[in-house]
Amino acid sequence: MKIDIGLKDNSRKTVADALAPMLADSYALALKTQNFHWNVIGPEFPYLHKQFEELYGELAEAVDGLAERIRALGHVAPGSFAAFDKLKQIKESTGAPPAAKEMVGELWHDNEALVRHARKVKDLAESVGDVETGDVMIERMQVHAKAAWMLRAQLE
Ligand SMILES: [Fe+2]
Repeated sequence: MKIDIGLKDNSRKTVADALAPMLADSYALALKTQNFHWNVIGPEFPYLHKQFEELYGELAEAVDGLAERIRALGHVAPGSFAAFDKLKQIKESTGAPPAAKEMVGELWHDNEALVRHARKVKDLAESVGDVETGDVMIERMQVHAKAAWMLRAQLE
């Protein structure tokens, strides 16, 4: 069906293609953060178990908004581990769980990576007039920058 939301067809496609890796990275970070919620040990357990839960909970809701923005642009949202694996850049945590401090450090860097990733998508979206996606990306940048700050502060 014909879609006319004031953006060129190729602009909608360009932005949807840029949102797919952002969705995959967000999903990958949600999974990693939940993994750490499950497997963290040590004296900081009560705090970190709860903090990681809050972080993955926010991400689990955010991925829905990213996928639905791709749909609103008229494109198919990736929704399989196979597709996410091809699209993501966030490194998975496989093997034995790292120490609590390493978990915090890894999530700090991953959240910073997502701020940078969202910033690129925002610039691209706005360059073709898609300020709505730009708006979504600004929110993601704020959320991930705050998470990165809080995680970083725990290591200072
Ligand atoms: Fe839980």
